[in-house]
Order: sequence, then structure tokens, then C-alpha cells
Amino acid sequence: MKILKIGGSVITDKSGYRKAIPERIEKIAKAVASIWKKGARDLVLVHGAGSFGHALVIKHGLKDGVKNTAQKLGYADAHAACCELSSMVVCALIANGAPAVSIPPAIVISLKDKRIYRFDTKIVNDYLQSGYLPVLFGDMAPDSVLGGYPCSGDQIVAYLGKGADFVLLATNVDGVLDDAGKVIPLICRENFPEISKHLKETPNDVTGGMRGKIGELMALDTLSYIVNAGHPERIDAIFSGKPALCTKVVPNGEKSSGRTFMPGASMRILRQSRPAE
Ligand SMILES: Nc1ncnc2c1ncn2[C@@H]1O[C@H](COP(=O)(O)OP(=O)(O)OP(=O)(O)O)[C@@H](O)[C@H]1O
Ligand SMILES: [Mg+2]
Repeated sequence: MKILKIGGSVITDKSGYRKAIPERIEKIAKAVASIWKKGARDLVLVHGAGSFGHALVIKHGLKDGVKNTAQKLGYADAHAACCELSSMVVCALIANGAPAVSIPPAIVISLKDKRIYRFDTKIVNDYLQSGYLPVLFGDMAPDSVLGGYPCSGDQIVAYLGKGADFVLLATNVDGVLDDAGKVIPLICRENFPEISKHLKETPNDVTGGMRGKIGELMALDTLSYIVNAGHPERIDAIFSGKPALCTKVVPNGEKSSGRTFMPGASMRILRQSRPAE
């Protein structure tokens, strides 16, 4: 299985409020549909919530969870906004020939103190097996400790990415950048402590920005890439096993980096309701 995440910073204006960027959604949908049409039947798409998620979490005061009636209204409002963005993404994919089906994390995921505790991955697997392109997204999710909490697309990627062939995170930068703005080509356990100082939290991002993203990827024993979605040809190159400008994250060294894209490769059956580690 391959996991592709399109960042909310790509498809929305994160400095705005519920502000989509339709031409970017269209460009990305074209690129993803083209990968799907080339035979990637074991592809799961995840997209960020951008200004349909982070801005509403801040507006409704949901950063510490959901306790009162006003916050419950806020939770519902934020979830509805995330679904609205996902509907735009899915409609663009369908228009470009990919049978995309949006699966709302608020329905299939439960959190326990901010982390995924239950995930009905069977539905994702069923859609894959039936030849659809499942689409998940950053969303609100019920939390048994906090009442409710944002579940980032990055956390969903990290959960689904265990055992995947690779994970590709497409965002609005060329990769992880050092202080001089140069792309750091490789992150692994050995250089992570040194690189960690470059990872900043991002304004308008309640789930940790680049720091949160790399933290999720380092906890995964799966090859992953950070790529600029403004250059869809780079996404395509990685899916075709060709080199592209990006940051490669290889937590446990090269043993997890040898896999290449095989169109139509057999699908891994996803584990169901795996408790969070
Ligand atoms: N060292 C770094 N290298 C590159 N980007 C960094 C770095 N530190 C912080 N950032 C910021 O991280 C941002 C990307 O993270 P962010 O979580 O906003 O993206 P996203 O995944 O596209 O959005 P979303 O979380 O809504 O899906 C970049 O726009 C950049 O401003
Ligand atoms: Mg983020």
C-alpha cells in the first residue's frame, strides 16, 4: 500500500478562514487521478484540513478538548467544514476519472488523549479491494479523555503507514529545510537530533506543523518523503521510482528504503482496530 498526503497548506489558504484554493485542488486532483489511472490500486489518499480545520479549532477554543455545549457546536462546525473541503477534493478527483470516496475520520476513528485508539480500517480496505480510491482527511474525532480533539492527517498517515511500501507527504515546501533554506535530503535516527533544531511549529497549525509531521514519521518504520505539491511531477517521479527533489525520511536506515512502486501490486490487508502504541 502507498499513502499520499496532500497538505492543507497546499489546497487551502491557511492564513484565511475556510478558504479553499480551487485551482490548486484541481491541479492536485489531476496529478493524483493520473497516478491512480496508471494502475496504483493500492493507494490511499489523505488530505490536510488547512483553514477548514485549524482556524475553526482556534475559533471555537477546541485546543484542550470539548467540554461544554458551545464547544460541541464548535466540534460539529469544524467537522462539517472538514467534510466540505473533502467534498471539494473528492469532486475534483471524480471529475478527473478517479473513483474517490471520502471516509470521514470523525466516524471511523476514536482518540484516547489525542492519539488514535480505534480506527475502522476495514472500511478503507474494503474500498481498496473494490477498486476505489479511499480519501481520509484531517478532522475532529471523539476523544475518550478530552471529549473531542483534532486528528491530524499526519497522524492518520502514521497509523496507516505502518507496513506500507512508502508514505509521501506533499506540502508547500521543497522538503525539510535547514536554516539557510536548503533542502535536507535525508533524515534518519543518526542525524535526527541535529536536524530537529530546524523543525519549527507552524502558525495556523494546531497539530505541530513540520515538527509534528517529522515526529509522526520518525515513529514509523516506513520509508517516507516530503515533497513540494506545487511540483506534481515530483510526486509522479517518486511513484515511478525515479529521483525527485525531496526530503527522504528513513527512520531505521536503508533497510526500510528499498521498496519501489509496482503498479497493481498486491494489497496488504489492513489491521483493524489496532490500539495505539
Ligand atoms: N525546517 C522546516 N522546513 C520546512 N518547512 C518548515 C520547517 N519548519 C517549519 N516549517 C513549516 O512547516 C509548514 C508545513 O507544515 P504544515 O503542517 O503547515 O503543512 P501541511 O501538512 O501542508 O498542512 P496541514 O497540517 O493543514 O495538512 C511549511 O509551510 C513551513 O512553513
Ligand atoms: Mg500540519
